[in-house]
Amino acid sequence: MINTQEFNQLNRVLEQHTGIRLASSKKDIMASRMSRRLRATKLKSFGRYYQYIISDEGRNELSIFIDKMTTHETYFFREIAQFEFLYDYLKNNKPKRFPIKVWSAASSTGEEAYSLAMLIDDLFYNQPWHIYGTDISRTAVNMAQDACYAISTAQKIPSKYRKSYCLKGHGDNEGAFTLINKIKHNCTFTIDNLLELKTVDYSFDIIFLRNVLIYFDENKQQKILDNIVKRLNYSGLLFLGHSETLKKKRNDLKLLQPCIYKKVAT
Ligand SMILES: C[S@@+](CC[C@H](N)C(=O)[O-])C[C@H]1O[C@@H](n2cnc3c(N)ncnc32)[C@H](O)[C@@H]1O
Repeated sequence: MINTQEFNQLNRVLEQHTGIRLASSKKDIMASRMSRRLRATKLKSFGRYYQYIISDEGRNELSIFIDKMTTHETYFFREIAQFEFLYDYLKNNKPKRFPIKVWSAASSTGEEAYSLAMLIDDLFYNQPWHIYGTDISRTAVNMAQDACYAISTAQKIPSKYRKSYCLKGHGDNEGAFTLINKIKHNCTFTIDNLLELKTVDYSFDIIFLRNVLIYFDENKQQKILDNIVKRLNYSGLLFLGHSETLKKKRNDLKLLQPCIYKKVAT
């Protein structure tokens, strides 16, 4: 059981580090997601757990707390119509500059970034390109860097990409697959917070910001969008998740398709 004071304390830590603030109705969800960590750390109450994660010794546990309290659901070629749109768009509007720079903002465990990598390499295999992925969760970023996925998840990858870019694991890696080295070498993952970006460069041609804005209030969504749009090149493309729309109209973005925008002003 978590009491209101403990919930508020932990919720404050979550908000300080991610910008996400849970509604009070999420008390039970927090308790159920964190009760295992209480047992693992042998702490007797959520109040003690809170004291631990705000202390210097609790720094690793803080990162586990953030990981457990954020939602990482993702899969290869999620919302495939957006990838099909991007493929056709790039075929008809060849980039004028290389390397092509793509950012999977909130990359979770890397499936979105690697999906983009396969698509871009297929189109521009003899040109330089780079995909950047960022996420606030250390565990998710580590998994993205490892690029080792359950073979069942490869079903979502169109077969032409699966054949060219995926390698089946053997021995210890039976039941898993990874991506060929060219794909892995051209994808870089770092830990970063969309609200106060520290590692992310400017001038991206394509940015995927999908299934993350929904977790923030309107002010924070605006702040994140400002951070993102200023890193997008003129005439670059921004993709949002299918349940995410711009709450306020922006003069610098033109809607091309639902949830797909083109930057039209610098
Ligand atoms: C549901 S996943 C979306 C993954 C992928 N973009 C997709 O659409 O499949 C949301 C991700 O956002 C990350 N996240 C949450 N708050 C964040 C923040 N403030 N900065 C960066 N990433 C954040 C979470 O760790 C999680 O991995």
